Amino acid sequence: MNKPFAIVTGASAGIGLELATICAQEGYDLLVAADRPEIQSAADRFRGLGADVRALEVDLATIEGVDRLWAAAAGRHVDALLANAGHGLGRAFLDQDFADVRHVIDTNVTGTLYLVQLVGRAMRSRGQGRILLTGSIAGFMPGTYQAVYNGTKAFVDSFSFALRAELKDTGVTVTCLMPGATETDFFERADMLDTKVGQGKKDDPADVARVGFDAMMRGDGDVVSGWQNKLQSAIANVTPAAILAEQHRRMAEPGSAKKSRE
Ligand SMILES: NC(=O)c1ccc[n+]([C@@H]2O[C@H](COP(=O)([O-])OP(=O)(O)OC[C@H]3O[C@@H](n4cnc5c(N)ncnc54)[C@H](OP(=O)(O)O)[C@@H]3O)[C@@H](O)[C@H]2O)c1
Repeated sequence: MNKPFAIVTGASAGIGLELATICAQEGYDLLVAADRPEIQSAADRFRGLGADVRALEVDLATIEGVDRLWAAAAGRHVDALLANAGHGLGRAFLDQDFADVRHVIDTNVTGTLYLVQLVGRAMRSRGQGRILLTGSIAGFMPGTYQAVYNGTKAFVDSFSFALRAELKDTGVTVTCLMPGATETDFFERADMLDTKVGQGKKDDPADVARVGFDAMMRGDGDVVSGWQNKLQSAIANVTPAAILAEQHRRMAEPGSAKKSRE
């Protein structure tokens, strides 16, 4: 109980798996969550690194799922919350199933915010805590053929800075990790394997997680992982939205992987 304690969501795969691995290596005990049973084998990996681990299979798109996660913390002080669970959804908005659309919003925005509110209140009362939100550089550009997802990440990127300002001088820091395209299950799950971005070169999730963890420990406001992504986001900040939307079409349009090879 003397060890620091972290909650990491989406810890079964990709960036979250690497974030939780770093937490375990840095001496944290863990409460980890994901929606599918793979979280149990991930938990074994964290235990192998010396962490005391509780692992939960919960749908964090639901209020009940987030309540179950918070209850599993059992009143233990949370030193770090790494709210990372999220997923995308490719293809044209009008062709998407609305239940899928809603699941993206409910996971990336509603569930994330609810968890941040529960944990953030406890951290504020204690006058101590670190929150890391996984946003994305996708939040800087209209996401043609990934429209809802990019909207959710624009929300997270913006929300993170606002909450950080509200918590100034409380002892609680809020940091937004903004990755670019990263080599995870993300593109397969979003049904984007036939897109240019889905088949393009991507960052290593372990590197991305390290950049995010270090930024959280320093209490930085945000961090864009990788110099190419830093450049891309700087350019996006001064590019008209209509041009960004067209650029995104070229990356994310179904079949764009084939077109880019022709
Ligand atoms: N990969 C990229 O290019 C990229 C770029 C920028 C930002 N991001 C962000 O990075 C974060 C992690 O994604 P990733 O790339 O590491 O993808 P990933 O490999 O697919 O991992 C996503 C993780 O989130 C969990 N998750 C998703 N929806 C959930 C739900 N409703 N309830 C509980 N757990 C849920 C998944 O667990 P289950 O499999 O059990 O659902 C998994 O553990 C996301 O927020 C994503 O938006 C990714």
